[in-house]
Amino acid sequence: MIKVGLISLGCAKNLIDSEVMVGHLQQAGMVMTPDPHLAEVLIINTCSFIDQAKRESIAAIHGAVDERSLDARGRKQKIIVAGCLSQRFRQELPKLMPDVDAFIGLDQITQVAPIIQKLMGTDDSGSRNLVTEKPRYVPDYDTPRFRLTPKHYAYIKIAEGCNHPCSFCIIPKIRGQHRSRTQESVLREAAQLVHSGVKEINLISQDTTYFGMDRWENGRPNPRSGVDSSRGESLASLIRALDAIDGDFWIRLLYTHPAHWSDELIETIASCKKVARYVDMPLQHISDNMLKLMNRETDGAYIRDLVNRLRRGIPGLAIRTTFIAGFPGETDEDFQELLDFMEEARFERAGVFQYSKEEGTRAHAMPGHLHHGTRRSRWNMAMARLQALYETVNQAQVGKTMRVLVEEPGVARTEWDAPEIDSTVFVDKQIPVGTFADVVIRDWRGYDLVAAQ
Ligand code: F3S
Repeated sequence: MIKVGLISLGCAKNLIDSEVMVGHLQQAGMVMTPDPHLAEVLIINTCSFIDQAKRESIAAIHGAVDERSLDARGRKQKIIVAGCLSQRFRQELPKLMPDVDAFIGLDQITQVAPIIQKLMGTDDSGSRNLVTEKPRYVPDYDTPRFRLTPKHYAYIKIAEGCNHPCSFCIIPKIRGQHRSRTQESVLREAAQLVHSGVKEINLISQDTTYFGMDRWENGRPNPRSGVDSSRGESLASLIRALDAIDGDFWIRLLYTHPAHWSDELIETIASCKKVARYVDMPLQHISDNMLKLMNRETDGAYIRDLVNRLRRGIPGLAIRTTFIAGFPGETDEDFQELLDFMEEARFERAGVFQYSKEEGTRAHAMPGHLHHGTRRSRWNMAMARLQALYETVNQAQVGKTMRVLVEEPGVARTEWDAPEIDSTVFVDKQIPVGTFADVVIRDWRGYDLVAAQ
């Protein structure tokens, strides 16, 4: 039995790819080891979104190459680089990293077992670079998958790829065109997960609000055209069907795009009791000038109106968003407008990225790139503003009774908190992990809340 180790980096979409690889390895009779040193084969599933993520992935690869040792039987560990870094730099990486045994891309995750068998065999012919251009793969409900998240929550990738032309983002070039799964496929997977004890289903893709629309016969809807699920499957129709699955669980929407929200979707969320009152919607900026340069298919007036419609339509909603500080051409006025908007909109959950200049994006060649010191100081200012706002949000929760899902002994999350991203609530250690409980919020500390049952 071949022993395989895995280092999974990047976002939840990449984590699902790791889960699919582990599922296929187990099906092929290989065993996973949590200790990379004991692995005969080590897979590093990489991220390549921004500079920091690339650096982390490259450091993990170099670290593995440096530490690789011969095992007791004299075999040298094989190293496979998978994921977004190898997909993005499929031409360059094999030349830059001669010590890596194989590079695989997003379409090779289901073939990882035969690739390893070949690497471990005597036939070492063939290319080390197995990455193909333009990924097409999408998982299905019966795709072998071994979940790497705790038993009580899971991610479901409802679509892969992205059709948006955001000028700062490299992900569409890495992950290819948007391709939705069928509603039936997602439903079957969700029902299996709920049946196995999952209490929270997190729907993910590059743009969850675009679910189904790539398969509409009468073509792609225009941004802001108002999603109408009579034209085919949509996120609204999917949510209604998921909400009808028997069981006590949360459905959480991650990675929505502001351009594809509709009144129908807002009404659907409001009427579906299992959908967490939480929407993750990266806005990136509020200044018209910036949104245009970023190619966000929205403008400031549209975003302000959408935020109001969401708040009016879904009582008790928490909006999570992210912004980019220091995009090329951002003036002091643009940045001030962003800070003012943070105060005005009072997002319950928010974060800021410092603009990262990424080769292959349209923003890379734009004029007006800011000095890194300016980007950094704007990022610091925006983070400080958000932190102050966060404290007022937390203060307002004191005295309220909230339903939480217990993550580990003494630590839980509210429906306003996505796993691995948002805040936690400190609760009584006696409440069993993986169960819901109603707790009263007594206090707050930084980003977190303190409760007692
Ligand atoms: Fe995710 Fe990083 Fe790829 S954010 S989609 S793993 S580039």
